[in-house]
Amino acid sequence: MLDTANVPMIGDFVRESLDLHLFFARIMKEHAIFMQTGFLPKDLTYAQQAEQFRCQYDEIIKEAIMLGDCTASMDVLKSGELVTDKTLRAEQKTEMLTGIPIDVTITMEEANLKPDLGTIPPGIEPQVNLLNQKAMALTTDFAGFKEHVLEQVNQCCITTNLFPMQYQHLYKEAEFYLKVLTWIQNHQFVDARVNLLEQKLFWDEIMREHAGIIRHLLDPSEKELCFKAKELALRFEKLEKKLKGEGLPASSFEKLVRENIAASISIADYKSSSTELLLECQIKALSMLSPLLTDHTLREAYYYLRILQTWKIGYLGNG
Ligand SMILES: [Fe+2]
Ligand SMILES: [Fe+2]
Repeated sequence: MLDTANVPMIGDFVRESLDLHLFFARIMKEHAIFMQTGFLPKDLTYAQQAEQFRCQYDEIIKEAIMLGDCTASMDVLKSGELVTDKTLRAEQKTEMLTGIPIDVTITMEEANLKPDLGTIPPGIEPQVNLLNQKAMALTTDFAGFKEHVLEQVNQCCITTNLFPMQYQHLYKEAEFYLKVLTWIQNHQFVDARVNLLEQKLFWDEIMREHAGIIRHLLDPSEKELCFKAKELALRFEKLEKKLKGEGLPASSFEKLVRENIAASISIADYKSSSTELLLECQIKALSMLSPLLTDHTLREAYYYLRILQTWKIGYLGNG
């Protein structure tokens, strides 16, 4: 159902687009880093392809930062979904451990973005429109690459240090980025509650998978962290089942959102403390459980939390 009260003006198209790239282009760039570190030496071509995607997403982020200074939403800048207080250190540690160069100036610039104070430049829309098209083309290619690697892994043609489920997870996130971009490009503004349902269906599953992936990358001796991850996975699984229950009345839906906020805060706390412990070398784990991976999943939790906490306000759940 279209809620005309929430139909945005041009400023919202610009703001929503840039907010989205500032979050999701960084997420995609990091997926490229995770994939690149996961390939074995014989699959150098795949590692090089992943590197190319990383560099191309750097360009998208730089452009979004350039256009997004003084246009980004205050909610987004405050949420922690773009950069946390650990992102810079996680990047430096990951670069040291993997040898993959990570441009930290982009992170510093993103952390210093200033919010929109109602001064969005009037001629900016065509540039944002072009950036959206560029990001859509790149993300379509990247989703295809993820899908191809997953097929190769499933057919036992290659072996990598990522679980097949992780490729599936990375693929789903690329598809979701494309989906939201398509909504924005088509000015397809939907009722906030309908949009929240889609967001919830997607992110509950993603949060459950994060807990499962982290648990399996931990050393088995890390019993407490493994146990906590299992608990969190079960919590999100229950929330997914509740949402899929038939005929959920509005009052129950609001209660479910409150439960979701509590669960998302718990998983964010878990990811945040795990990142600190990994940065301090206090966790035994497989190499793929880097502080950049846990910080990455933390930002995804913050993104989801912001959507949950602001869903009543406006279109696309972003306010
Ligand atoms: Fe991700
Ligand atoms: Fe994720």
